[in-house]
Parts: sequence; C-alpha cells; structure tokens
Amino acid sequence: MKTQNKAMGGQVLLTIFTLCMLYSGARAQLSPGIYDKTCPYLGQIVRKQVSMALKAEIRMAASLIRLHFHDCFVNGCDGSVLLDGTDSEKLAIPNVNSARGFEVVDTIKAAVENACPGVVSCADILTLAARESVYLTGGPMWRVALGRKDGLVANQSSANNLPSPFEPLDSIIAKFQAVGLNITDVVALSGAHTFGQAKCDVFSNRLFNFTGQGSPDATLETVLMSDLRTVCPVGGNGNVTAPLDRNSTDVFDNNYFKNLLQGKGLLSSDQILFSSDLAVNTTKRLVEAYSQSQSLFFRDFTCSMIRMGGIMNPVNGSSGEVRKNCRVINN
Ligand code: HEM
Ligand SMILES: *[C@@H]1O[C@H](CO)[C@@H](O)[C@H](O)[C@H]1NC(C)=O
Ligand SMILES: *[C@@H]1O[C@H](CO)[C@@H](O)[C@H](O)[C@H]1NC(C)=O
Ligand SMILES: *[C@@H]1O[C@H](CO)[C@@H](O)[C@H](O)[C@H]1NC(C)=O
Ligand SMILES: *[C@@H]1O[C@H](CO)[C@@H](O)[C@H](O)[C@H]1NC(C)=O
Ligand SMILES: *[C@@H]1O[C@H](CO)[C@@H](O)[C@H](O)[C@H]1NC(C)=O
Ligand SMILES: *[C@@H]1O[C@H](CO)[C@@H](O)[C@H](O)[C@H]1NC(C)=O
Ligand SMILES: *[C@@H]1O[C@H](CO)[C@@H](O)[C@H](O)[C@H]1NC(C)=O
Repeated sequence: MKTQNKAMGGQVLLTIFTLCMLYSGARAQLSPGIYDKTCPYLGQIVRKQVSMALKAEIRMAASLIRLHFHDCFVNGCDGSVLLDGTDSEKLAIPNVNSARGFEVVDTIKAAVENACPGVVSCADILTLAARESVYLTGGPMWRVALGRKDGLVANQSSANNLPSPFEPLDSIIAKFQAVGLNITDVVALSGAHTFGQAKCDVFSNRLFNFTGQGSPDATLETVLMSDLRTVCPVGGNGNVTAPLDRNSTDVFDNNYFKNLLQGKGLLSSDQILFSSDLAVNTTKRLVEAYSQSQSLFFRDFTCSMIRMGGIMNPVNGSSGEVRKNCRVINN
C-alpha cells in the first residue's frame, strides 16, 4: 500500500510543482535543478545525513521541519533562524529552550561544504532537510526549488511574532496571510504536528482551573486530559514533553487530523482548527477531508511546503550570500 502511494506520488510530482508555483512570480529565481552541475550529489548527501540523525533520535525529523518553518516566517527562507549573536532568533520566545536541531544542521552543512564548498546556502539545506524528514518518516516526497540566499541579519522581534499556540484562529490565519499563505496552507501545514513533541508549558493551561485562566478546555477529550494531567501536574516541570500525535508519534501520516475529530489535539492552536466557531467557515471542512484521505493531505501538504519554502525576504528579496558557517555571516 505504502509503495503504491509513493509510486503514484512520483507520477504527479512535476504537475504539483508547477501548480503550486503558478502565481508566484517573485519566486521564479528558485529552481529544482540549480545545483545539478555545481553540487550533483547534494540530494544524496542531505538524505544520508538526515537519515543518520534520525537513527540517533527519530524526533529530529520534527525538529528539523520546524526550523524550516521558523526560518521562512521570519525574513523569508534565508537561514536567519540559524544565526547566533545578540539579535539571534534562537532567543525569541517561541524558540528559546524549544527550537532544536542546530547541531544537526551544522553537520549536514559540513558534509555539503566538504563536497561542494561555498555553493549551497544554509536556507536551502534547511529546505532539503525538512523534505527528507517528512519522507524518511513515511510522508510524501516532492521536488524542491533551490537557490535561496542566506540573509545577513536575524530579527528576534519578528521571531517573537511567530504564530503562538495560545492565539485565536483568526490571528493565526492573519499571520499566514501576512507571508502570502492562505487557509489551506494553515490546515495542511499544521498537519506537521503529526510528529514531534510539545512541552507542558505550551498546553497545560488547557488542563486545569488556574486562577484567572478559566476552566479546563472543554474541547479536550476527557481521557487524554486526565492522562496529560499526570504528565503535567500543577507546579510540575514545564519542560516535560508529550507527543503532538499520540497515535503515531514518530510517523508522518494523517492521524493528526483524525485526532482533532476526537478532541485529541494537543495544542489549543491544533484543536481550534476543528472546534472553534470560526473553524466552521474556514478550516473545519479541510480537517475533515484530510482525516478521511491521507493522499489528499499529502498532496496539499506538499503544495503548501513548496509555497512556504518560497517566502522571500520582503526587504532584500533574494539577495544575500552563501554562508560558510550557518551560525555567522561571512566576513
Ligand atoms: C499554525 C501555527 C503553529 C503553531 C501555533 C505552532 C506551535 C507549536 C508549538 C507551541 C510547538 C511545541 C514547541 C515546544 O513545546 O517546544 C510546536 C512544535 C512543532 N511544530 Fe508547530 N506550530 C504551528 C505551525 C507549524 C508548522 C507550519 C510546522 C511545519 C510545517 C510546524 C511543525 C512543528 C513540529 C514538527 C513540532 C515538533 C518539534 C519537535 O518535536 O522538536 N508547526 N509547534
Ligand atoms: C524586524 O521585523 C520587524 C517586523 O516584524 C520590523 O519592523 C523591523 O524593522 C525588523 N528589524 C530589523 C532589524 O530588520
Ligand atoms: C490556497 O492557495 C492554493 C494555491 O493557489 C489554492 O489551491 C487553494 O485553493 C487556496 N485555498 C484557499 C482557501 O483559498
Ligand atoms: C473548573 O471550574 C469549573 C467552574 O468553576 C468547575 O465546574 C469544574 O469542575 C472545575 N474543574 C476542575 C478540574 O477543577
Ligand atoms: C527547562 O529547561 C531549561 C533549559 O534546559 C532550563 O533553563 C530550565 O531551568 C528548565 N526548567 C525546569 C523547571 O526545569
Ligand atoms: C488512537 O488510539 C486510541 C487508543 O488506542 C484510539 O481510541 C483512537 O481511535 C485512535 N485514533 C486514531 C486516529 O487512530
Ligand atoms: C459562517 O457563515 C455563515 C453563512 O455565511 C454565517 O451566517 C455565520 O455567521 C458564519 N459563522 C461564523 C462563525 O463566522
Ligand atoms: C538587507 O540587507 C542589508 C545589507 O545588505 C541589511 O543591512 C539589512 O538589515 C537587510 N534587511 C533585512 C530585512 O534583511
């Protein structure tokens, strides 16, 4: 069954690519074949490195795709999330003590530099690593457009403005629209919460009657709620984590959406895609459709990943450099 899906996916890859890019003239400089001559084994090198990282820790797949998301939403996909330093996005609230995988990115970059020095940007490496993470955990494969340049600045305040698990659906939708993504992208990309973990800190407000924080979240299914109360007791360690998708924690599939139909979304920002009033006219139908058809989810997810990967720096466009070290700009 699995192989069949993959084979079918292969036949429509090119079509999907063209459709997703159709209306985005600004993204025209990116192209799948851009390193064919200058770094012919790029794809294999990244696949091997990601594969080794997942053997050491399967959760790394989730951590790597999240880095790509946090990169693209701040200054466009320009490797800004990887920069160390005073304005580092690593220190922004959504990232500090949460974003992970930077050492793995360093390792991939070193392997790529070894084969083709000074050619492939850190932003492209994140794009490729995200794709491999999905594919190697059971998700779809797709062609990625490459040729991004690495930016020269990080923007911590912009990273502080990344979508939050506590905000309402209309403002999450608005943050996607601000970078050129639509409601389909909100739902499909949220499906990345089919793997990986979240800390008690970002969902325990749904579990108890904290002073001033209202009642437990009525949309959270009761058995899951009681399990999570054990994992995240009042006054407990907020660093403890729970899987975003309990049914298939490390697999890329559509269980995330099936969970939402049962009230088993871990984050408030997950469950509101199905359960909020606003969802009725915006996201709910898509959640239902993806819960019923994994192949529809994979198709739309692929398209949305390509669109997210095309977000460009609104100020500097595609200008920038190919960083030697992903953590610092070149001299
Ligand atoms: C829709 C708005 C989104 C919100 C509010 C959100 C929020 C979060 C939060 C709070 C966590 C847990 C972080 C922690 O506890 O350390 C998380 C984890 C994660 N997010 Fe999102 N996210 C969103 C969209 C996305 C998108 C678009 C992607 C990728 C395409 C993504 C991929 C992930 C993954 C894979 C993890 C698990 C990371 C790991 O285990 O290291 N998220 N997200
Ligand atoms: C960071 O991004 C914000 C918008 O989110 C912008 O107002 C600000 O000028 C940016 N800062 C830098 C240093 O680019
Ligand atoms: C979002 O954009 C994609 C690609 O253009 C399109 O196929 C989809 O219908 C759009 N979704 C919504 C809700 O407008
Ligand atoms: C939370 O508060 C509400 C209203 O005061 C109450 O009905 C409910 O039983 C409380 N839940 C818990 C778990 O204490
Ligand atoms: C959570 O982890 C961070 C980083 O390791 C640490 O600074 C913090 O003290 C931890 N919090 C608790 C409650 O252990
Ligand atoms: C997830 O597992 C639970 C318990 O095994 C089961 O009740 C539920 O139906 C499963 N959900 C999905 C989406 O497979
Ligand atoms: C959804 O759309 C219907 C019909 O347009 C409208 O009557 C209703 O108020 C909308 N609901 C929300 C929550 O926006
Ligand atoms: C654009 O590039 C210039 C240097 O070329 C830099 O000073 C500026 O901060 C950059 N702005 C953004 C938003 O990346």
